[in-house]
Amino acid sequence: MWDAETYDLVSSIQEAWGRKVINWRVWQGNENVMDAGCGTGRLTKVLAQKVPAGMVYGVDIDRNMIEVAARNLKDIGNVMLIESDISSAKLPAKVDVIFSNAAIHWIQDHQGLFENFWQLLGSNGEIMIQCGGHGNLGNIISILDGIRHRDEFKRFFTGWQESWYFANPEETSRLLQDIGFKDIEAYLTEDSATLGNRNSFALFAKTVVMKPYLARLPDQELKDKFLESFLNEIESNHKSRCWVMDYVRLNIRAKK
Ligand SMILES: C[S@@+](CC[C@H](N)C(=O)[O-])C[C@H]1O[C@@H](n2cnc3c(N)ncnc32)[C@H](O)[C@@H]1O
Repeated sequence: MWDAETYDLVSSIQEAWGRKVINWRVWQGNENVMDAGCGTGRLTKVLAQKVPAGMVYGVDIDRNMIEVAARNLKDIGNVMLIESDISSAKLPAKVDVIFSNAAIHWIQDHQGLFENFWQLLGSNGEIMIQCGGHGNLGNIISILDGIRHRDEFKRFFTGWQESWYFANPEETSRLLQDIGFKDIEAYLTEDSATLGNRNSFALFAKTVVMKPYLARLPDQELKDKFLESFLNEIESNHKSRCWVMDYVRLNIRAKK
């Protein structure tokens, strides 16, 4: 489960990415939209403002996220929140746009996901997606992996499998093409983010990028130790680019 309260506070980086994706489209104002993996609804709200005569379905698998989204969006009439896996979600009506930001790299089976998106879209519907792409967080992950292999932690990481799937544009284009999508665009952008200081980096890291690692550790003392080791490693080895998340985003746009 996500710490949705903290995510809501620290996710201005994700919100900025998502706002750019929303601006890829010239909105008519009456579209039905799915926000796939809507989190706490910060971008669902922006979408709802773009389509005052349409409807936005915010879908997320995590109950904490849906609860905070419900609070954030309580005054917005054209939003419906649905707690569901976006790979199998059903919606009350076909949608014109499926938007997704910083979410689908948490899903390994992109073929199944895009097949479901195909079913949910009306004719001429489009997908507008940004997620972690090939090479995302390469530096951060190599530091985290170094720490999880240390003697004090390694017994908690047996059978470890990467939680994320950072696809590359070529395989994404091929998948979409095979399903039947047209006008496919898929490309990577480097979009590193710098956090202000050790504390803000720590809060962001433990809420977002360290989530799968910390979830393996059985108590708070071990989690704190793992976090401290990570921060010390970053500070000592990366002085020139301290408190940087080396993000690489995969941008995906295609039509049904
Ligand atoms: C980093 S958050 C991004 C939230 C929001 N889109 C944003 O940009 O702030 C990733 C979200 O994807 C959701 N998610 C991950 N896998 C999912 C799945 N299979 N179905 C639905 N939501 C999923 C998580 O619960 C989480 O809320």
